[in-house]
Amino acid sequence: MATKVYTVREFVQDARAIVDGDLDEAKTIELISEPLSRLISRPDCLRDVAPDGNPDPDAGFSIYRSENLAIMAVIWAPDARAPIHNHNGWALEGVISGEEFNHNYQRLDDASVPWYAKLEEVDPSTVRAGETTSLMLPPNDIHSVEIPKGKTLAIHVYGVDLAAQWRYRFDLETGEVTPYVMRARR
Ligand SMILES: [Fe+2]
Repeated sequence: MATKVYTVREFVQDARAIVDGDLDEAKTIELISEPLSRLISRPDCLRDVAPDGNPDPDAGFSIYRSENLAIMAVIWAPDARAPIHNHNGWALEGVISGEEFNHNYQRLDDASVPWYAKLEEVDPSTVRAGETTSLMLPPNDIHSVEIPKGKTLAIHVYGVDLAAQWRYRFDLETGEVTPYVMRARR
């Protein structure tokens, strides 16, 4: 008998049930990382949900959205990068193909000065195809992303409705903090 394929829809249901269990963030991340690993071990998993059934789409899209759980297909172009930012919530990344390189930052100040943050770079994390990683929890959920190995397909899972979530960009040199929100897409 063929091994049963684990689908994106099943992953969404499982992640939903885990978040509904209302555990602490570290435990929630730990429990979701196993099914996320199982899902991204299928190089064609995005075919389950891509609007045109293409397992290698050119643009990212939302797979699931709610107030306390968002699941996204993230498509990085070769040499793409994301500036230093946070999510104001927990996040888990699983790379289907390619590679994500995260610079991670820790906050050294006590957040008492408005729109200012002093950051220190800590150990980076490389997420290769078939691997998952979680980012640090707030207030140290600050990172930037580089895509060193060409077009990269990933599934990201967030403990917030990322598209509607106010979050921050950080300037490492000046310490300036700038609020922003993604344009919400439904
Ligand atoms: Fe991010």
